[in-house]
Amino acid sequence: MARADQVRRKHLGNAVHFRGLVEISNHCRCNCLYCGLRRDNEKVRRYRMKPEEILSCARLAKKLGYGTVVLQSGEDPGCSAEMLAPVIRGIKRMGLAVTLSLGEREAEEYKLWKDAGADRYLLRHETADPELYGYLRPGRRLADRLADLILLRQMGYQVGMGFMTGLPGAEDRGCRADLKLMREMRPDMVGIGPFIPHPDTPFGREQGGELSETLRMIARVRLMLPYAHMPSTTALATLHPQGRLLGLQYGADVVMPNLTPAEYREDYTIYPGKAKPYDPCNEYRSLVKLLDECGLVMGKGPGHSIFYERRRKK
Ligand code: 5AD
Ligand code: SF4
Repeated sequence: MARADQVRRKHLGNAVHFRGLVEISNHCRCNCLYCGLRRDNEKVRRYRMKPEEILSCARLAKKLGYGTVVLQSGEDPGCSAEMLAPVIRGIKRMGLAVTLSLGEREAEEYKLWKDAGADRYLLRHETADPELYGYLRPGRRLADRLADLILLRQMGYQVGMGFMTGLPGAEDRGCRADLKLMREMRPDMVGIGPFIPHPDTPFGREQGGELSETLRMIARVRLMLPYAHMPSTTALATLHPQGRLLGLQYGADVVMPNLTPAEYREDYTIYPGKAKPYDPCNEYRSLVKLLDECGLVMGKGPGHSIFYERRRKK
């Protein structure tokens, strides 16, 4: 832990970047065995936010001083590329960076959003084991996801990978293959959180990921990719009351406060226990206090990846 903390402070200083999360749609065409938003879960009340609703969340992000808005959804073709492009443009006009986390989409859609000004794309690889990947995400292939990550990077996006600790089927394999894959791909961002079983999924009775294992993985990635931006994930905070703080102490340098309107938030149930009815202003205040207590400060500006800044200067 101490080493990961040192490396974080040496390469990234004591700034923690705030990325305001807006969960814009919980529709999903996928059927991932681990996720509460999977297609077959009929208990989910599905919603899709309107452009104006998304923009008003972005305005709140701006008011609170966040540098980035993250638009996240299931894989929802109903959330069309044409609908989102003007939303992205609107957020960019506010002077904010835009991160997308909308699953695997068509190359033309990635392109349209890039041209609208999107900066980053999160597409966790979930597991580096192709066979396990095909089992966990029926009908999908790891190779396609990795090809998308490469394409996104070529288009000029900063890209994020990541995985869950303690996923059923992956326990005894450790995360060596995940670390190796990320060493090769050198993503700008890495998201790691514990798997949390959701009762309305095939994995409802499985064991969840552990705090210590998750923290160890965050620390190892920090040592391996000193410049990568890594969130102290909400899943970590769900697992343990001090989870967010511990993530930051083990090498994470990003927090993702939730800006999703209260009426939708409780329906974005990737895993249970997540939907705390937190008022965004309160969450902001409690995060700043948390940072203060451990000698960290809120980052200024968009908090782009250093690799990206270097690529741009070339
Ligand atoms: N527990 C924790 N994380 C989950 N995700 C999906 N389902 C779960 C779960 N049950 C993660 C996946 C996905 C991200 C948006 O949420 O890694 O990429
Ligand atoms: Fe859909 Fe993402 Fe959940 Fe898979 S993990 S079911 S793609 S929302």
